[in-house]
Amino acid sequence: MHALTHAVVEPLVPAVALRAAPRLLRTVADCRAFAAEHHAAGRTVALVPTMGYLHDGHLSLVARAREEADVVVMSIYVNPTQFAAGEDLDTYPRDEAGDLAKATAAGCAAVFLPTTDVIYPRGHSATQVAVPALQQTLCAVDRPTHFPGVALVVTKLFNITGCDVAVFGEKDFQQLAVIRRVTEDLNLPVRVVGAPLVREPDGLAMSSRNVYLGAEQRREALALSQGLFAAEGAWLAGERDADRLKRMVELRLQQAHGGIIDYCAAVDPDDLVPVTGEVDRLLLAVAVRLGKTRLIDNVRLG
Ligand code: PAJ
Repeated sequence: MHALTHAVVEPLVPAVALRAAPRLLRTVADCRAFAAEHHAAGRTVALVPTMGYLHDGHLSLVARAREEADVVVMSIYVNPTQFAAGEDLDTYPRDEAGDLAKATAAGCAAVFLPTTDVIYPRGHSATQVAVPALQQTLCAVDRPTHFPGVALVVTKLFNITGCDVAVFGEKDFQQLAVIRRVTEDLNLPVRVVGAPLVREPDGLAMSSRNVYLGAEQRREALALSQGLFAAEGAWLAGERDADRLKRMVELRLQQAHGGIIDYCAAVDPDDLVPVTGEVDRLLLAVAVRLGKTRLIDNVRLG
């Protein structure tokens, strides 16, 4: 009699559950059909608009969108109307294959990949969408055509995808404020959700544009988050003076050689109006140019 020996059989279960590839939507009709199918089955649809070259900040929005709705559509479109002449439209980083793999792993049910012919079939939009009240401050000062371009494309994406919910990152705080206001003022049937800013382990706010930074600029870029964290530390220790908090951020930015400070501001988190003196909440927001790369960051206190 031989003792029975048992072969150890490795389970054929992959460590990471494989997900179905998302449906690729190329046209307005594709998007409408996708939304109609899910709505007919009683499912809600969330949209995560992006310009691609995806990083973990984008993917955190997908995770949030999956909590907010039954299925998630991500759009990937580098929108020309939000770039001014001389900005980085032509060099904006792109990686469609890598993005699709990430969108799949994150659990997107569909990815909308329009061309400019689909979004602007006449080559341009005669209709404008803008929120002048939010155009006087922060990024709008140096980029006056940016938010009207964002507001236009996001309004179109809401209407094209028929989404019930849309998720945006607080990294682009002013963008989120503009989109909330457009959605409210124009009665767009979309619930706008803001999700927290995601950082690299050393504190740098994740951005598709970080790939532009050389090694030295990458080090200098830490001044943004370090300045904001210094102010956050002071806030947690009881400092409530908006000017002193702003000054702490400015000081750290000025120590970083080579950068040009576009703004360093203390504003009300809702209407983005500058605040001064004692406050019970505020948004500290910065924009710095390192060479050709413009970086933004912010921290919300209170
Ligand atoms: P993009 O810069 O690709 O960002 C897409 C979304 O990801 C935005 O909601 C943005 O706030 C969010 N995001 C980017 N970096 C993030 C980070 N570090 N943490 C959390 N969220 C982050 O913003 C745009 O594209 C465009 O203006 C768009 C809204 C798609 C319109 O064209």
